Amino acid sequence: MTEDIRIYVEEAPGQRTEHIGPTDMGLSLMELLKASGYNIMATCGGMALCATCHVEVLAGPALPEPSDDELDMLETLPVVHTGSRLSCQIRLTPRTDGLVVRLAATGA
Ligand code: FES
Repeated sequence: MTEDIRIYVEEAPGQRTEHIGPTDMGLSLMELLKASGYNIMATCGGMALCATCHVEVLAGPALPEPSDDELDMLETLPVVHTGSRLSCQIRLTPRTDGLVVRLAATGA
């Protein structure tokens, strides 16, 4: 039942890096991004409270709707995009295969 999925991070327009993540460990996208070397502080430890894991979803499969906690946190951000999500609230599952995101917290 172990299934690895691919997540793409857009580093610059037209430049995407592929990352492989397992779906059998209950990992969040934030944890995969941190493990891949991205500079995400995740000061709240994945509790939807710090928004340092903010990403913009650019393409890929439809994700589960954000929780009220996630929406409340996103509302406090100075810059929000159409596809803004907290990556700590996105679980890696076979249904997130092929997701394309851009890190949105840098410079905020
Ligand atoms: S890690 Fe803090 S909101 Fe996601």
